[in-house]
Amino acid sequence: MDDTTRRQFIDRVRDFQARGDPSGWCDQVYRDANGDVTAVFWADRVANPYLLDWLQAHPAKDPLLRAVTIGCGVGDDAEALAAHGYQVTAFDISPAAIALCRQRFPDSPVDYRVADLFDYPAAWAQQFELVFECNTIQIMAGAYRMEALNAIAALVASGGDALVSCRSRAMGTQQDAFPLPLDETEINGFIRAGLNQTALIAYDDDQQPPVPHFFACYHKPHA
Ligand SMILES: C[S@@+](CC[C@H](N)C(=O)[O-])C[C@H]1O[C@@H](n2cnc3c(N)ncnc32)[C@H](O)[C@@H]1O
Repeated sequence: MDDTTRRQFIDRVRDFQARGDPSGWCDQVYRDANGDVTAVFWADRVANPYLLDWLQAHPAKDPLLRAVTIGCGVGDDAEALAAHGYQVTAFDISPAAIALCRQRFPDSPVDYRVADLFDYPAAWAQQFELVFECNTIQIMAGAYRMEALNAIAALVASGGDALVSCRSRAMGTQQDAFPLPLDETEINGFIRAGLNQTALIAYDDDQQPPVPHFFACYHKPHA
């Protein structure tokens, strides 16, 4: 994306955010791609490597374990979870994103759903042994960030885990950035939501210049 296109894109996002609609612009990104996954600029088209490492280190011991991916985008992380033995629900607010997932993985066992993180079915609460969030909170602004984080934490079953991948920033920096990376106080919202942090990996990705990230792991104690 060139600088002008990027500025126009961010202006459009800000318009939606100013109207109190944190996710209203997302579907257009997928509709503009018109079925071409390579045109979705944030889609790596491979599963998150930190998720894959975690799955390898923590093999699913029970075929009935349920996993959910938040804002699943074009589906690679959901497919990886299914390949590692989970029963997977993958949801996104964008109907065009979900159509793209179904187009890419027509024989998938993943239950791809159009759903809103801020209004998902009540029956999903505390139902997932593994919750995977990648890069959704960071596209939100203001109070929606903690609302999104709390909605994600509320999906974790008793005794389950949550894995969170996101851009990171030092406290008090980049206040006007989009996407707005999470600082440590923000990501610690998962601890405030009742989860135990088991790892917080801080790393730079392989972009030029490198972008700092967190990969955080949480466990929800048995009730
Ligand atoms: C930056 S993209 C990341 C996509 C994917 N997780 C990845 O890492 O490639 C954020 C995703 O969150 C979705 N999203 C935004 N707001 C949402 C909401 N309220 N409920 C569900 N999904 C949402 C967007 O449609 C988009 O697919």
